[in-house]
Amino acid sequence: MIVSKNLSKQFGEFEALKNVSFEIEQGEIVGFLGQNGAGKTTLMRILTAYLPSSSGQAFVGGEDVSLNPLAVHKKIGYLPETPPLYPNMTVKAYLRFAAQLKDVGVKFQKAQVEHVLEECRLEDVQNQVIGTLSRGYKQRVGIAQAIVHEPEVIILDEPTNGLDPIQILHVRELIRKLEHKRTVIVSTHILSEIEQLAKRVLIIKKGEIVVDSNLEKFLIPDDRKQIFVKVKGEEFHIEQAVKDTNSVKQINIEFLGEDIYELHLENTNNVAHYGELVQNFIKYGIKVIEIKEKKGTLEEAFLKINK
Ligand SMILES: Nc1ncnc2c1ncn2[C@@H]1O[C@H](COP(=O)(O)OP(=O)(O)OP(=O)(O)O)[C@@H](O)[C@H]1O
Ligand SMILES: [Mg+2]
Repeated sequence: MIVSKNLSKQFGEFEALKNVSFEIEQGEIVGFLGQNGAGKTTLMRILTAYLPSSSGQAFVGGEDVSLNPLAVHKKIGYLPETPPLYPNMTVKAYLRFAAQLKDVGVKFQKAQVEHVLEECRLEDVQNQVIGTLSRGYKQRVGIAQAIVHEPEVIILDEPTNGLDPIQILHVRELIRKLEHKRTVIVSTHILSEIEQLAKRVLIIKKGEIVVDSNLEKFLIPDDRKQIFVKVKGEEFHIEQAVKDTNSVKQINIEFLGEDIYELHLENTNNVAHYGELVQNFIKYGIKVIEIKEKKGTLEEAFLKINK
């Protein structure tokens, strides 16, 4: 549905994007992450045919963005970093105008506008002039104009920026509902938002894609699995049981009282062999109280990549 082939972008001497390639299938929600200045907005502007690339190609729904920008504009819904709103228009008139621009049939315009007013919770301000809206409400209008024509592809540049916590939840809910039906790219600096929304993450660093992965796989690389085990027994025997298990390495042991210890282990193998570990505990007469795995967080992974 979205294809980026060796996209590069130069601003003078500066290379904002370097050979960016990926493909996004229909129905996917993909999160774009990257530090300030990484190139997220530049990439989104190229994909939405608002900025020409310096080299490479991009296709949205089969249309080449540099050859058919107008066709691309109709296929996509785009929330730019700063939505181009008309300050003198009322919310409703503006959305009607957006629906017209995006070729929503005359018969459907009214209903579509009503629909997005409700979806983006804008009913109360529908007759207010956009220029007098608060920042969060302006952002909601930006989201409403992006989805008013029910586009196949939705590209949202920091959609929850400036919204209150209730509205953030609401916008996330809105985006989640689009899964499978629409193809969505969403950039954000709120890492937990990506975890809640997207199944796939693309991390951009200094104009290059450094991670393109299924989020779940990215957060639990098998070889880095952290295991916490609560056991009851004698410390010496506990440590011996761990030593006898090839697939784990002891990182730490903490005494919790009454012969109970918490062990922090690292899985050194590609697959977890808890069977072997548990058997060794049993062999030494140690009681296993709890075993839990700790997933890496996106924040940890992000900081590691960008350090
Ligand atoms: N029109 C332009 N002229 C010159 N440099 C530009 C232009 N647009 C973007 N850049 C530069 O390209 C780089 C990438 O910018 P971009 O806006 O894509 O980053 P971003 O990942 O969206 O960052 P942020 O998280 O701050 O929104 C930055 O160094 C920026 O200064
Ligand atoms: Mg940006």
